[in-house]
Amino acid sequence: MLFLVILPLLPRTSECRTTADGELKRLMVRETVGNHFSEVIVDALNRYYVQNHSSTLLMRLSTVSRRTYELQSDIMDEVMQRTSHSIAYEFRPTTTHRYASRRPRIFNLAFIDGYDAFDQLFRSLEPASNDLSGYYLIVLTTLDTARPETLAHMFSLLWTLNVINVNIVTADLQDYSHWQAVLMYTYYPYTPDGCERSVPHLVHRFRKGLRRLDQRIELFPSKLSNFHRCQITVCTFHLPPYVLLTQHRDHHVQYGGFEGDLLRALSVKLNFTLRLIEPEAGELWGRTPATSNETETDASGCVRLVLTERVNLTLGRFAIRGDRNLVMKCSRSYYTVRMIFAVPAGREYTPFEKLFRPFSRSTWMLVTAYLLIALCVICTIRCSGRPYLRDFVFGRGISTPILNLLNVLFGGALQQLPARNFARTLLFLWMYYCLVVRTSYQGSLFEYLQEHKNFGPLQTVDAMVDENYRFYSLYESSLYLEQMPKILSRITWLEDEDAAVERHLSRLSILQEPATALFTDIERVAYYNRFHAREGLVYVANVVLVRLPIGMYYPKKSCLANQFDRELDGLLTSGYVSYRLGRYVDYDAFKRPPAYHHAPTPLTIDHLVGCFETLICLLSVAAGLLLVELLSRRIVSLRALLTILPTV
Ligand SMILES: *[C@@H]1O[C@H](CO)[C@@H](O)[C@H](O)[C@H]1NC(C)=O
Ligand SMILES: *[C@@H]1O[C@H](CO)[C@@H](O)[C@H](O)[C@H]1NC(C)=O
Ligand SMILES: *[C@@H]1O[C@H](CO)[C@@H](O)[C@H](O)[C@H]1NC(C)=O
Ligand SMILES: *[C@@H]1O[C@H](CO)[C@@H](O)[C@H](O)[C@H]1NC(C)=O
Repeated sequence: MLFLVILPLLPRTSECRTTADGELKRLMVRETVGNHFSEVIVDALNRYYVQNHSSTLLMRLSTVSRRTYELQSDIMDEVMQRTSHSIAYEFRPTTTHRYASRRPRIFNLAFIDGYDAFDQLFRSLEPASNDLSGYYLIVLTTLDTARPETLAHMFSLLWTLNVINVNIVTADLQDYSHWQAVLMYTYYPYTPDGCERSVPHLVHRFRKGLRRLDQRIELFPSKLSNFHRCQITVCTFHLPPYVLLTQHRDHHVQYGGFEGDLLRALSVKLNFTLRLIEPEAGELWGRTPATSNETETDASGCVRLVLTERVNLTLGRFAIRGDRNLVMKCSRSYYTVRMIFAVPAGREYTPFEKLFRPFSRSTWMLVTAYLLIALCVICTIRCSGRPYLRDFVFGRGISTPILNLLNVLFGGALQQLPARNFARTLLFLWMYYCLVVRTSYQGSLFEYLQEHKNFGPLQTVDAMVDENYRFYSLYESSLYLEQMPKILSRITWLEDEDAAVERHLSRLSILQEPATALFTDIERVAYYNRFHAREGLVYVANVVLVRLPIGMYYPKKSCLANQFDRELDGLLTSGYVSYRLGRYVDYDAFKRPPAYHHAPTPLTIDHLVGCFETLICLLSVAAGLLLVELLSRRIVSLRALLTILPTV
């Protein structure tokens, strides 16, 4: 709801030219300063506050006396009358009940008449309903000149609220000349002289009489573009490849990692120094207070340090999430993390399985189908009992067509060849087909026997559940698995520490943990593969379970967010983020392996184990048949069977 309040214009002209001293002073304020006052304000408003689709929040409070109240009303009337065609005002009631605005206003205009009013108005500001990083123009309508101590007090309260873009406009009533000036003050929190200071600084003394106000005076300069080597406190923890912390002997912590590099780039650009704080042992991101009746004592880890404002920001794969956004302020997201399962490589092919690798499954099926069709045709013709058909297809005098079929398939020679054309053509076609199939099989078998090859890792969660995999995860990532009861029922929580993840990854890489899957992000695995490739690679299942946009988190009222976002935008568009990430990760292992290199290597006995296995198998079959033949001399029915078989 947006209510436009146009206060009735109250003409307060020379109604009281009486004798009292105070009255005279008041007159002077009205007629000389009041007018000029509003000119300065209107000019500032026109320059900075006129924006389409944006309204200005108006606050006023007067606690000193009736006269300051009236003076305030006069100035407000004039200001609003002269800007109402270009600025929509929203009036903020000063009553104690909470003022609920759906959207915090960037532009704010406050009329106060002393420190009391200021204190009441500004202490009631809240990050939820007021944009503390917005513009604040405070008009101080005192009857006396504002004392420097009062201004200093105001600015120090403004600093605790993190209100930076602020100007206090007041009249210089000590100036008894005809041209009473209007003074505008602000403060610079970061200066070469010190950090987080709230010393009043005169922006400009606006003299009456000059027709146009100087447009070159920057009323809302950027105050956070140089921190002058002041300190920014950051909560983070060791979490490769995002943040790498290395402890040195003298308690000096060196930081790196891709988000660490980002932080360093920001600190160079904005000229600040860093102090890193790690959360208490065993805590990483920490718990976010869930409902509105929980306070920061229910939080833990880095989240608590941010909520209690002991740190200025936190980072380290901080997913930007709704529950966190309710209590903290998030930055621009600079990367999206994919959460996956890290799985061990599949088992290696046995030498026997390698014999089947030259052909793909479909080729094997076709080869088998051809053979079956040939057998069917031969059987049908034999059973049909027509000798002329047999002679026509098989050839005259051919008594073992099936044996001949197999003989040609394996490249043997035929003792007796068919004489007629049709049978010869059939034989020629079969020989030609067998030549192609056999040559391509033999040609590539050599390479496949030599190659070390594993089965691909499991690719889907369902397959892992079917294979009875055990799952591992950091407890603080449990939120993302809540939707998957199948996994939660067989999960083991690791200690909340990167070392636990590292240990598990190295066990996965040397296949010490068969049938387990580790829930982590693909960048973590890519980091492991980059720096430990020699020990063995860790593979990932190809399903991305969650995508997490990550960013930094600030306390709710922090003034840093906007400035940091601007710098982050620059770093993002210049490609700096992906460039730094590329130095820590290696995604190559996840791609299909490169084509087999045709380097000539001698075949070893190991490569031929599969062939030996087949040979032993066939020898045992032959030995078995020999036994059966020997037995058949004793058993009549067996002899009958064995005399029928050779006729096929
Ligand atoms: C507001 O919108 C009008 C028309 O859309 C445009 O001419 C004008 O420049 C805008 N003013 C500002 C301050 O953006
Ligand atoms: C950073 O701040 C220091 C201290 O004020 C100053 O001497 C230095 O010139 C600044 N560096 C840059 C690049 O602005
Ligand atoms: C407040 O917190 C308690 C537990 O601490 C919970 O039972 C209750 O529902 C909460 N109330 C509201 C209004 O959230
Ligand atoms: C940073 O945090 C410190 C406390 O650790 C606080 O005093 C300071 O005001 C904060 N600075 C900003 C810009 O929020």
